[in-house]
Amino acid sequence: MRMTKPLVIAALIFSTGGGAWAQKSAAVQSIEEYRAMLQDGNPSELFEAKGEGLWTQKRGPKNASLEKCDLGKGPGVYKGVFVELPKYFADTGRVQDLESRLLTCMETLQGLDAAAIAKTPFGRGEQNNMTALATWIAAESKGMKFNLSQSHVQEKVFYQVGKRLFFQRGGPHDFSCASCHGEDNKRIRLQDLPNLTKNPGDGVGFAAWPAYRVSNGQMWGMQQRLNDCYRQQRFPYPGFGSDATIALGVYLGVNSQGSTSVAPAIKR
Ligand code: HEC
Repeated sequence: MRMTKPLVIAALIFSTGGGAWAQKSAAVQSIEEYRAMLQDGNPSELFEAKGEGLWTQKRGPKNASLEKCDLGKGPGVYKGVFVELPKYFADTGRVQDLESRLLTCMETLQGLDAAAIAKTPFGRGEQNNMTALATWIAAESKGMKFNLSQSHVQEKVFYQVGKRLFFQRGGPHDFSCASCHGEDNKRIRLQDLPNLTKNPGDGVGFAAWPAYRVSNGQMWGMQQRLNDCYRQQRFPYPGFGSDATIALGVYLGVNSQGSTSVAPAIKR
């Protein structure tokens, strides 16, 4: 069949344009396939099992378990607590997230040194136990919807502080959290950057961590997630369980109101 000149040109434009389109959709498709394959087996189950064991194990100078730990719903209750944290605790007079609250229990019930644990690098010693405990307790709220309280004045203050921290720019690149997480459809290489200023939805943002990270084979709690994002922002690392990290947690958690928790998730 003979083509007229304009038709040939049209065919060429279409074929290059079509080729680029096909390539892009193949890339997007393989990312999606890769993500779907990841969901097949999540090694977080190993950390959950370790965390469950640690809860009942008598440890520390006081040779006690964590079974009387109050994570917000009374001593010993671990089901459903995760989706209501961070929240205000009257006994410490602080707003606490899961990890900082576990630290309180490890000190008061077991006699472990909270300050020393907070200074321990992620992935070492008691920090590994902390991650396992947080993973198991989060798993006990899997499928439940986030519902953080904003009734105590401190909870409201923490939300406002968290919001300010989220938008606070600084460091060598003049970045804030919002530089990477303040708009829809942002991406760094193959990593989607959820818009954390609004409700990012089920299994995204706050509703996914603790998560197992395939890229480095590590289980990370929310504290470590935030820590690493401060690194990406080229800011100094925040203290483990510091008020700044908890305020960010309140901001992200309240924004996630009504999202279903899939934690512990599996991530790239
Ligand atoms: C330079 C860009 C950058 C900055 C600045 C940044 N992040 Fe991130 N953040 C990322 C990337 C990239 C990921 C995904 C990492 C991955 O997939 O391994 C991520 C992931 C996250 C996640 C988990 C999202 C999910 O769905 O799994 C949260 C929550 C988060 N960041 C919070 C913050 C907070 C809070 C700040 C400010 C303290 C911040 N980030 C600053 C790049 C950034």
